[in-house]
Amino acid sequence: MMKRIPATLIPGDGIGPEIVDATLAVLDALGAPFDWDSQVAGLAGVQAAGDPLPQAAVDSIRRTRLALKGPLETPSGGGYRSSNVRLREEFKLYANLRPARTLVPGGRFENIDLVVVRENLEGLYIGHEHYVQIDDDPHAVAMATGINTRAGCRHILEYAFEHAIATGRKKVTIVHKANIMKALTGIFKETAEQMYADKYKGRIEMDSVIVDACAMKLVLNPWQFDVLVTTNLFGDILSDLVSGLIGGLGMAPGANIGADAAIFEAVHGSAPDIAGKDMANPTALLLAAALMLDHVQHADLAARLRKAIDETLNIDKVRTGDLGGNAGTAAYTRALVSRVRNG
Ligand code: NAI
Repeated sequence: MMKRIPATLIPGDGIGPEIVDATLAVLDALGAPFDWDSQVAGLAGVQAAGDPLPQAAVDSIRRTRLALKGPLETPSGGGYRSSNVRLREEFKLYANLRPARTLVPGGRFENIDLVVVRENLEGLYIGHEHYVQIDDDPHAVAMATGINTRAGCRHILEYAFEHAIATGRKKVTIVHKANIMKALTGIFKETAEQMYADKYKGRIEMDSVIVDACAMKLVLNPWQFDVLVTTNLFGDILSDLVSGLIGGLGMAPGANIGADAAIFEAVHGSAPDIAGKDMANPTALLLAAALMLDHVQHADLAARLRKAIDETLNIDKVRTGDLGGNAGTAAYTRALVSRVRNG
C-alpha cells in the first residue's frame, strides 16, 4: 500500500475544471496516492467566497505544502491583483520550472528538450508601479520599479544548477540584459559567474546570453540550449516562446517551487474562448501532474504517465483540436485512461 500524500486541488476558472477532471481521471487510473483537498480561487473564489484567494485555500496549501492548480482568471488593467502572483509571494515560490519537450513529431521543430527556470518573486514583477500627473492627465507618466536581490539571485541560480545536475543536463545558460540594465540584471549575471566559479565549475557547463539574442537563437537553433535560467519578466516571455516550439500552450507544464510549498500548473490560462466546449487539451496539466509525481519521489508513476500521453498522441493518434486532431477533452481522456490501465 502506497503512503497517501495530502495535496490541495484548485480547479480554477474557464477550462480549469474540465482539464482538472481529466487529470484526476488519469491519476486515479494510475493509482497516484494523492488525498485531495479541493479549494476555490480566482474568479471562482470571488464568486464563492468574495476573494480571489480565499484564506481556506491558503490554509490548505500551508498544511499540505503541495498543490495542483487549474488556471485562475486575472482581470487586465484594473480589478484584483493576480492570485497566482499572491500565491507565489505567500509561499515564497521562487523557482518557476518550465520544461519543454517535443511530444508530437512533425511540428516546426523536432526533438526539442529544454527547460526554462524563471525567477518568480523579484524583478519587474513586484508590482511597484505608479503614475505621475501632468496638468490634467493623471496618467501622463507611468513608472515601474524592478528589484533583484543578491539572495534572490543565489536562490534561483542554485536551484537551476542543482536541478540541471540532478536531471543529467549538460549546460546552464544565464539569460540577462546586463548591457542595458546594468544593475537590475547585472547582479544576476555577476552572481551566476561567482557561484559557478565557486561551486559548479567542472560539474556542468555554463554560458550566458543577452535576452534579445536568446530569443533569436531559440527560433533559429533551439537545440543549442539545455537549461535556461533568467529573471522574472524575461522568463515569463521566453517560456511562452519555448512552449511555442513544442506545439503551443496546450503542451507546456509549469512547477512553482519554494521553501514552503510547491504548486504545479499548466503554463496556459483559463482559455475562456473554449471553456465548457469539450475542446480543451488537458496535456499541459497532466504533464504538470507528472512533475508533481517527480517532486514527491514517484518518478515511476511520472514515467508511466508520460508514456501513456506519448502513446495516446503518437500510437493511438488521439489528439485534441489544438494539435490538429478531432478528439474532444472527454474522448482524449478516455484514451489516456485506457493506455494507463493497459500500459
Ligand atoms: P490563455 O492561455 O487562456 O489562452 C490563449 C489561447 O490559447 C486561447 O485561444 C485558448 O483557447 C488557447 N488555449 C489555452 N490553453 C489551451 C488548452 N489547454 N487547450 C486548447 N487551447 C488552449 O490566455 P489568455 O486568453 O491570455 O488568458 C485568459 C485568462 O487566463 C486571463 O484571465 C489570464 O489572466 C489567465 N491566466 C492565468 C494563468 C494561470 O493561472 N497560471 C496563466 C495565464 C493566464
